[in-house]
Amino acid sequence: MLDQRVLPTREVYRVYRDYREVARAIKDMVIRGAPAIGVAAAMGIALGARTLRAADPARDFERLCRAFASTRPTAVNLFWAIQRMRRVFTRNRHRSPDTIRTLLEREALAIHDEDVATNRTLGMHGAALLEDGATVLTHCNAGALATAGFGTALAVVRAAIDAGKRIQVIACETRPFLQGARLTAWELKKDRIPVTLITDNMAGHLMQRERVSCVIVGTDRTAANGDVANKIGTYPLAVLAHRHAIPFYVAAPLSSIDFGCPNGDKIPIEERPVREVTHVLGRQIAPSGIRVLNPAFDVTPNELVTAIVTERGIARQPLGRTLPRLVEGAPAKPERKAEARRMRARRR
Ligand code: MRU
Repeated sequence: MLDQRVLPTREVYRVYRDYREVARAIKDMVIRGAPAIGVAAAMGIALGARTLRAADPARDFERLCRAFASTRPTAVNLFWAIQRMRRVFTRNRHRSPDTIRTLLEREALAIHDEDVATNRTLGMHGAALLEDGATVLTHCNAGALATAGFGTALAVVRAAIDAGKRIQVIACETRPFLQGARLTAWELKKDRIPVTLITDNMAGHLMQRERVSCVIVGTDRTAANGDVANKIGTYPLAVLAHRHAIPFYVAAPLSSIDFGCPNGDKIPIEERPVREVTHVLGRQIAPSGIRVLNPAFDVTPNELVTAIVTERGIARQPLGRTLPRLVEGAPAKPERKAEARRMRARRR
């Protein structure tokens, strides 16, 4: 794993040989971002499967799943990936431990590969939303680092650029963990995609001065009604975007949509250590002993979301109806035509 805690100043790769180390790495944010967490958990379970004992493999397997399920509560991709691994185990539990291990490894690699393919397709759908010359404001890191590759919100940017559009990105620094400053800025710069870094409190000013064409963010868990949990600070951006009539898009692979969760109130919000707030890069910035809150995510109500971009197409309002329809397999409307219609209506 590329250690995301020390980017951008150091590129350190960590090798784990024990599933408990992989679970710890997820909890400690060596790897983070909902889809990447799911992939890492699947790989960790495949690694842990080497320790299954013939006496009671089912009990050993559940112990593995529990170790990963207790790492980070909000990112639903984690539970989605565990469920996929569990299905493979259950279907094959009568087979030899060697066969089970091989099948679990295969499933983990499939989850990895499917994630990259999903992001590329999602990016292609989303690219139609961006006009040539657009400036996209994003929050946190929903890029290659947060997935198995290509990103989700940043997949939309990458696909639009691949289609020949000139796109630039404004990255919010994303206090307290600084995923925007440390990770989004790093990966976009590496890919030579124009990126400008701002602190979180600058977004409103830039929107007011008409320097933002749209906001695109990822999600850790989107409820069935389209309420979106994402990195803390996303909700105020959605409110600001609404105030300034700027489209607010969410890039969400279906693995990030929790259809069993009716609305955002039911999404568990992770509380992280207070030290992430009182210290910046190891240096204390607040008085010792001060009371601190550190919710890692917030929920943006569906009415503030212009559209959700998935690998199945784009869901627009009313999201509670259009999102489930995407899963049921109804073909997505050709976005270009729909967008052209909206543009004509706006001009009128
Ligand atoms: O705490 P993190 O860094 O894991 O939070 C990540 C986010 O909030 C991302 O926006 C989300 O997981 C989508 S990543 C494609």
